[in-house]
Amino acid sequence: MVDLSTRYMGITIQSPIIAGSSGLTGRLESLLELERNGVGAVVLKSIFEEEILNEHQVHLGSLDSFQSELEYLDYYDYKLREEKVGNYLQLIEKAKKKLNIPIIASVNCISAHEWKAFAKSIASAGADALEINAMLLPADLKKSPDDMEALYDQIIHKVVSSVNIPVAFKISPYFTSLANSALRFSKSGISSLVMFNRTYNPDIDIYEQSITHSNILSNPIDLLNTLRWTAILANRINCDISASGGVSDAASVIKLLLAGAQTVQVASTLYKNNVQYVNELHNEIGRWMSRFEYTNIEQFRGKLSYNQTENAAQFERVQFMKYFGEYNHE
Ligand SMILES: Cc1cc2nc3c(=O)[nH]c(=O)nc-3n(C[C@H](O)[C@H](O)[C@H](O)COP(=O)(O)O)c2cc1C
Repeated sequence: MVDLSTRYMGITIQSPIIAGSSGLTGRLESLLELERNGVGAVVLKSIFEEEILNEHQVHLGSLDSFQSELEYLDYYDYKLREEKVGNYLQLIEKAKKKLNIPIIASVNCISAHEWKAFAKSIASAGADALEINAMLLPADLKKSPDDMEALYDQIIHKVVSSVNIPVAFKISPYFTSLANSALRFSKSGISSLVMFNRTYNPDIDIYEQSITHSNILSNPIDLLNTLRWTAILANRINCDISASGGVSDAASVIKLLLAGAQTVQVASTLYKNNVQYVNELHNEIGRWMSRFEYTNIEQFRGKLSYNQTENAAQFERVQFMKYFGEYNHE
C-alpha cells in the first residue's frame, strides 16, 4: 500500500494532485465531482479584478485613466463589486459545507488595489487558503523592472498582511531574474509559489488577417519549463512549490515530485480526459511507487532537484551548442 498524502501550505492533503483554478472549479457540482475522484484540494476559479473593473466601466462610463478609475471606485462603488464578490463568497461557504478537502480561493490581480478587503472576506467565508494570481505582462514601455517587481511586492504585502490563512502566489515565468524574485516572494509571508500560470496567447489568422488566439489548453511539452524551474527552486526558497503547466499524465506528476514540488496542479488534462482521470493518475503513481519500493512521497520528493542531484547543471543549460553540433538528422 502506498500513501499519497502530503503537506501543502501547512495542511495535510490526501493527494499531491490539486485541481487548478479553471472553469471546472467554478461550480459546486463540479467541485463535488473533483472531490469524489480524489483530488487533494481544489483551487476555485478566480475572481478577476479585471472582470469587476469592466463591469464598472459599463455602468459608470469610461474614466480618463486606470488610476483615476481606481480612485473613483475607492469612494463610490461597492454595490456591483459586492454582487460578484457575494456570489464568490457564497460558493466558498457552500463548498466548505459540502466538501472535506481544502478549498483554496483564487483572486486574479492586476494591481495592488483593493484586494485587502476582498482577501479578508474570502478568509471569513471559510476558505482554507488563498491563491493570488498576479500575472502582469511586462509590456508597458514606461515600466522598469523595478516598477514591476514593486507591484508584485505590494500585492503580496497587501494580501498577506490582511489574512490569517495561508497565501499562495501564482506567477508567470516572465521575470528578469526569476530565481531571485521567487526567493524574495518566498520570504514575504507567502506559503507557496504556484509555477506557472498559463498565459493567453494572441495569434494571427493570415487568411482573415485578424487577431485570434492560440490553444486555450496546454500541451505536454509545456511541462518542461515547469519542471526546470521546479527543480531549480525546490528546497532553495522559503515556501512550498505547487507546479502547474503541462501536467498531462502520471509520469508528469512523478517528475515534478522528483524535482521537488509539494503539489502539482492540473487543469487542461481534466478538460481533455475528464475528471475521472484523476483515479488513473493515482493508480499509475501508486504502481510506479510500488515498483521502486516507495511507500510515501517524502521518500522520493526532490531526489532530482537542483540541490540534490549531481547533475544540477543540466537544469541551467540553455544553449544547445554542443547538441546542435552533434545532432544528426535521422
Ligand atoms: C479553461 C481554463 C481556465 C482557467 N482559468 C483560470 C483562472 O480562473 N485562474 C487561474 O489562476 N488560472 C486559470 N487557468 C490556469 C490553470 O489554473 C493552470 O495554471 C494552467 O492552465 C496550467 O495548467 P495545465 O497545463 O494543467 O492546464 C485556467 C486554465 C484553463 C485551461
